[in-house]
Amino acid sequence: MNDLDSLVQHARSAFDAAPTAAELENAKARFLGKSGSLTELLKGLAALPPEAKKARGAEINQAKQQVEVLLGAARERLAQAELEAQLRAEALDVSLPGRSRGTGGLHPVSRTIERIEAIFSSMGFDVAEGPEIETDWMSFTALNNPENHPARSMQDTFYVELKDAEGRWLNLRPHTSPMQVRYARAHAARYAGASPMPEVRVIAPGRVYRVDSDATHSPMFHQIEGLWLGENVSFKDLKVTFATLVREFFETDDFDVRFRPSFFPFTEPSAEIDIRFGSGPLAGKWLEVAGSGQVHPNVVRNFGLDPEQQIGFAFGIGADRFAMLRYGIDDLRLMFDGDLRFLSQFR
Ligand code: PHE
Repeated sequence: MNDLDSLVQHARSAFDAAPTAAELENAKARFLGKSGSLTELLKGLAALPPEAKKARGAEINQAKQQVEVLLGAARERLAQAELEAQLRAEALDVSLPGRSRGTGGLHPVSRTIERIEAIFSSMGFDVAEGPEIETDWMSFTALNNPENHPARSMQDTFYVELKDAEGRWLNLRPHTSPMQVRYARAHAARYAGASPMPEVRVIAPGRVYRVDSDATHSPMFHQIEGLWLGENVSFKDLKVTFATLVREFFETDDFDVRFRPSFFPFTEPSAEIDIRFGSGPLAGKWLEVAGSGQVHPNVVRNFGLDPEQQIGFAFGIGADRFAMLRYGIDDLRLMFDGDLRFLSQFR
């Protein structure tokens, strides 16, 4: 083996042994660098006579080319190894379980309202929703509760610093009863002149507001208004409807419903509806769950309907009360504090 062959062999083993790109470049310098062995050999050509210079020069250049080819191959090999290492390090395990945000759940009041909607739907009631900021006429006057009437102070109403078209302060509705007016007026307009007039049968769930706050009162709470008007709808129908609701909602037959005389300007006669369970933790106690009554003729007139033709009842259910009874919650405030220790029990 001549000196050039052995130089190429040395280069090959040096390049093969280089573990990193940086060390490969160091090895390259030893052969091809400014004072690398091949460079030195080329410099040495100057001392040779012209004939020998030509032959030797060709040999050295050939050896240099071989070294450059070896260098290229070694660079390629290291780049490939580096890429593989990187792929290995950044590998994704697609079989790992995903990161979940956790499942949420419906608030107990939302669940309650949904259940009550389903029960009334099965009895042929429509479900309606309406504004929480109301006009004076909708919240009071149309409901036979004229200005300066003492019954207005039954509710400590929140007012909004904005006036309606009649120049009266808007209010945060203190009950869902304005939805009786909105829904029945739309019904009357839709079926104007129809004979017979189709029945009005609707519930309207939603938030209501009063200046009131303790363990059993929150300034914001939920009601479900009900209205059923027709040619011959009576208190008997109210009792059957309400008993059906209680039976379906609480999934028991073991209860009584009682009407206790009361007063609301928009119904006459009026009654509080109490229920009493025969078993369970609340057995034997009368619990007030709704206000109700036969819709007052003045109110039917404000609906745009004829009180001689349209008779029936309305009620306002305490939706939060229903939720508390069903889920055994004893403090109303728990429902609106947003505490996850409470809420996550309803997932
Ligand atoms: N709106 C009444 C209240 O908030 C409840 C009610 C509704 C009473 C419908 C009679 C008829 O207390």
